Amino acid sequence: MNLPEQGRGWHRVLRVVCPGSFDPVTNGHFDIIGRAAGLYDEVTVAVLINEAKHSLFTVDERVEMLREVTSGYGNVRIDRFHGLLVDFCATNGITAVIKGLRAVSDFEYEMQMAQMNYRMAKVETLFMTTNPLYSFLSSSLVKEIAGYGGDISGLVPEAVLARLRDRLSEK
Ligand code: PNS
Repeated sequence: MNLPEQGRGWHRVLRVVCPGSFDPVTNGHFDIIGRAAGLYDEVTVAVLINEAKHSLFTVDERVEMLREVTSGYGNVRIDRFHGLLVDFCATNGITAVIKGLRAVSDFEYEMQMAQMNYRMAKVETLFMTTNPLYSFLSSSLVKEIAGYGGDISGLVPEAVLARLRDRLSEK
């Protein structure tokens, strides 16, 4: 009997990455990171360094906020990367990418990236369905609502809420 292709031959995924901009981390991200930490041995949350994209928080601030909110997990580490995600995976011995899927609208682009990452380096992507409590949530909506003085409590961790208030009051 022919066996299906087994990628590079990994039988178990031990070390995974949750990549993103995290500008800032939301409770939706936090939910995925926590669930990934329960499934895999080591979870690296990797913040993309993208100088071309305007962001509200610097990469250092985003890393700091992520460290603060994930400090309760012994198997989560926070890092930053630029360039290709598959190169970051190779350097760090990471075998799979974990992504949260909020709605069908996320799927098309996510599938394209997943297939491209597999095509380039046989890095797998595993999708987790977002907790329905947060399926409408995004960092950009949080920033927009907070910017107009709307209530975003319950949508981002407390530590992020305080920093968002400070940052927006500086403007
Ligand atoms: O939070 P975001 O901005 O939706 O995250 C997107 C991210 C960082 C996962 C994606 O842009 C990415 O992986 N960028 C790194 C560059 C790369 O590898 N590009 C090729 C993707 S197939």
